[in-house]
Amino acid sequence: PKVAVLLGGPSAEREVSLSSGRECAAALRGEGFEVIELDAGPDLAARLAEVAPDVVFNALHGRWGEDGCVQGMLEWLRIPYTHSGVLASALAMDKERTKAAYRAAGLPVAESRLASAAEVRARHVMEPPYVVKPYNEGSSVGVYLVHEASNGPPQLAPEMPDVVMVEAFAPGRELTTTVMGDRALTVTDILTDGWYDYDAKYKPGGSRHVVPAEIPSEIFDACLDYALRAHQALGCRGISRTDFRWDESRGLDGLILLETNTQPGMTPTSLSPEQGTVSGIPFGALCRWIVEDASC
Ligand code: DAL
Ligand code: MG
Repeated sequence: PKVAVLLGGPSAEREVSLSSGRECAAALRGEGFEVIELDAGPDLAARLAEVAPDVVFNALHGRWGEDGCVQGMLEWLRIPYTHSGVLASALAMDKERTKAAYRAAGLPVAESRLASAAEVRARHVMEPPYVVKPYNEGSSVGVYLVHEASNGPPQLAPEMPDVVMVEAFAPGRELTTTVMGDRALTVTDILTDGWYDYDAKYKPGGSRHVVPAEIPSEIFDACLDYALRAHQALGCRGISRTDFRWDESRGLDGLILLETNTQPGMTPTSLSPEQGTVSGIPFGALCRWIVEDASC
């Protein structure tokens, strides 16, 4: 079958997507697929009509590619595509509405609310420490940590959206679990010197991953259980990756969900490919499974 890998695109995560897409395209060629790489621009629908792929492998991240937009276009064109559909993509991209879905499923989250960027710039809208983030971006783009001792409210960059999410800072370790269909793979403990920000995510050596995480089995199993329930509560398809924060001083009560990524990174430093490998699923086999799971 002919697979069109969508990569790049106009979002803030364009570079990440170029890397994910190239890795997946190479792996799929290795698996014997005919692969065409399409940088997703305004002419995408026309390019797809020209190429006429059997399947689209969506390797886009962030707005337009991970939020239901491109999925809607692919539904319209009746081309089977990988990963989550329109509704789950749109829901998971909105971090505040994601949390409403988590809460309804009985999954633990940190207190948060939406606020206007103007309000956040003017005063502390929550007792510090707290985190301000766009409610609809990934890869830690535009994330501000407001420390306990900070003098004033955060100086948000002008390009921040008008509405932002303000979330109580949850201290602790950064854990993550990939779900592949109906199976939660494993848990990674992400060790960084500071914040797990954009550089720590994508610079080789920017973070260290302990996988499987060396944490109590009660926490490990809870991550597997919560990630699968999050995947199902949001209506995800294919693979997703749910990120957690765990305050070990509070045991199981210290474990909360941060978000679910419906287009987990597939770069050389990304977490899901590594979780696959550790679980006995080499990268090529993972990409093949994703293609075979595609629908519309
Ligand atoms: N948003 C990036 C791609 C991730 O979650 O892996
Ligand atoms: Mg994310």
